[in-house]
Amino acid sequence: MGSGKVLKCSFCEEPAITVVRYAKLRLCKKHFTEFVQRRVLKTIDRYGLVDRGWRVLVAVSGGKDSATLLHTLSTLSKELGFEVTALHIDLGIGKYSEKAKEAAEKLCKALEVPLVLLSLRELLSVELPELVAKSKRPACSVCGLVKRYLINTAALELGVQAVALGHHLDDLLPYIVKNFVLQNLGGISKLGPKTETEEVFVGRIRPLYEISESEAALYAHIQGLPVVEEVCPYAVRGESLEEEIRSFLNTVEAKRPGFKVAFARAVAKNIEFYREEAEESINKCEYCEMPTASNICAFCKLTARVLGKPMGSDVRSKVRRILAEVKTL
Ligand code: AMP
Ligand code: FES
Ligand code: ZN
Ligand code: ZN
Repeated sequence: MGSGKVLKCSFCEEPAITVVRYAKLRLCKKHFTEFVQRRVLKTIDRYGLVDRGWRVLVAVSGGKDSATLLHTLSTLSKELGFEVTALHIDLGIGKYSEKAKEAAEKLCKALEVPLVLLSLRELLSVELPELVAKSKRPACSVCGLVKRYLINTAALELGVQAVALGHHLDDLLPYIVKNFVLQNLGGISKLGPKTETEEVFVGRIRPLYEISESEAALYAHIQGLPVVEEVCPYAVRGESLEEEIRSFLNTVEAKRPGFKVAFARAVAKNIEFYREEAEESINKCEYCEMPTASNICAFCKLTARVLGKPMGSDVRSKVRRILAEVKTL
């Protein structure tokens, strides 16, 4: 670099825009794009994430990770013979949600992927800030609970074979380590590349399992994918244990390129062991028949406490009506 010479791509004459140290490659835009797509393809293959003929519901938040997810999956879907439908949940968090919805709509239009839009206001007559204020629980926990419920409901009602989530390597590894440190081994089983479909629970797949945060961001940037620039006003990036672990993992990765991917693969190999540790019984919620470890699901419990009525069953019927139109697309 001292001579000021621009480094060339390992595969062509174009200038390299990034160095992938663990693969010992310098890549131009075109070859980085191919590199990421091939990695996602190999992840699908390695862990058996999708079968030919499947319909996959891709959960799109408006952010860069799930934009990269939708782009790579819709590109690979032709070659692998599956279909994608996108789902965006409008949580009603002021300007942030408006922008996120706009980004999701633009993205799906550009990629010609059908989009299912569910809005909390339409389904519950309240938005996330009101639910958070009334429940007195941390925003992210209420948000996560509502999203999980709506994603699973939409997937069941649409009859898709899997839900794809945008979690990548740097989202998952810190939680895997945290669960290990706390010896919550069962918790690790939910952080692998996939969870299986069980009766009323549609399996989740994580095709970005072996893609890092910076790779996902660079891919979205290179492709010029529409993404929301604002961060969620509830987001807190501080000194949480996960943050400390994330920076520790990155320190090791800098010294030993390939460490994070090797770690993720080792966890995936032992996922059956972690699943046995989980030993969770899955029951059906008394009110809405959605999966729960107890008798009443978390969504019905929350809405009963905050809105005075368990809303799961009402929400399911509304989602079913909204989706009736999409099904025929
Ligand atoms: P998070 O829980 O915010 O870390 O997001 C994890 C994954 O959930 C994202 O990569 C998306 O696949 C999905 N997701 C998050 N927010 C939304 C949303 N508003 N609508 C649909 N899917 C979402
Ligand atoms: Fe869920 Fe911010 S997007 S709390
Ligand atoms: Zn090149
Ligand atoms: Zn319920």
